[in-house]
Amino acid sequence: MNTALKLTLGGLCLAGGVWASDLDNGRKLAGQCRTCHGLDGYARIPIAPHIGGEPATYLAAQLVAFRDGVRVHEMMSVVAEDLSDAQIDDLAAWYSDHDVTAAMPAEPDAAPGLCIDCHGVDGIALEEDAPNLAGESAIYIDTQLKAFRLGKRSHQVMTPIAEQLSDADIRAAADWYAAITIEIEARAE
Ligand code: HEC
Ligand code: HEC
Repeated sequence: MNTALKLTLGGLCLAGGVWASDLDNGRKLAGQCRTCHGLDGYARIPIAPHIGGEPATYLAAQLVAFRDGVRVHEMMSVVAEDLSDAQIDDLAAWYSDHDVTAAMPAEPDAAPGLCIDCHGVDGIALEEDAPNLAGESAIYIDTQLKAFRLGKRSHQVMTPIAEQLSDADIRAAADWYAAITIEIEARAE
């Protein structure tokens, strides 16, 4: 390929955002994440969320929040501390380059009505900035909702929603989404 063409393509890739990130490097970096999130983003411990197949924008935003101390967690704050912006982009690209499919064990009309516009009936998010909840452990969902309610984690949309929820509402939403089973697969080339 001639140099001028390569430069043009390089420019397009950068403009495309996600293309500019390096999947191979993301896969390598994910070696640091696998004991808790798996290499495919299917969590290996109940307190860690599944992250495979989530929107790259959401994943990158959370890693930046942990790194910058806006979101705090004893494990993730340490993990994210030294990540550069480029490494975060590569990790977000790697984990989002997966497909997640969800299977509901119960009738969809039992889904929590207040949540489904953004998180979906089956827990697969319908908004780019919202995470999937499908198959997350009840303990993880419960912890995050209480963190929003207490102000330990803050978000313009989720904080006011969580403030309205009783412990029983939280348990019901957590039970619904935790009962969904998921499969995560690397996206075919
Ligand atoms: C020792 C276990 C551990 C390791 C290693 C680890 N994580 Fe985590 N991760 C967690 C836990 C636990 C949480 C939930 C934090 C909380 O409760 O706020 C989490 C949360 C996250 C979230 C937020 C997801 C969401 O749905 O909000 C992202 C993104 C994430 N981790 C990415 C990574 C990446 C990328 C790596 C590797 C560079 C990594 N983690 C390494 C345990 C780990
Ligand atoms: C209008 C859209 C919207 C609605 C409705 C909504 N959420 Fe969210 N939710 C979000 C967004 C956006 C985030 C990401 C917040 C962030 O970036 O920290 C989020 C994050 C969460 C998280 C954190 C998940 C994780 O992986 O860390 C949980 C748990 C959650 N929502 C549960 C709920 C529940 C339960 C309901 C219903 C009672 C609900 N949400 C309603 C948009 C919404």
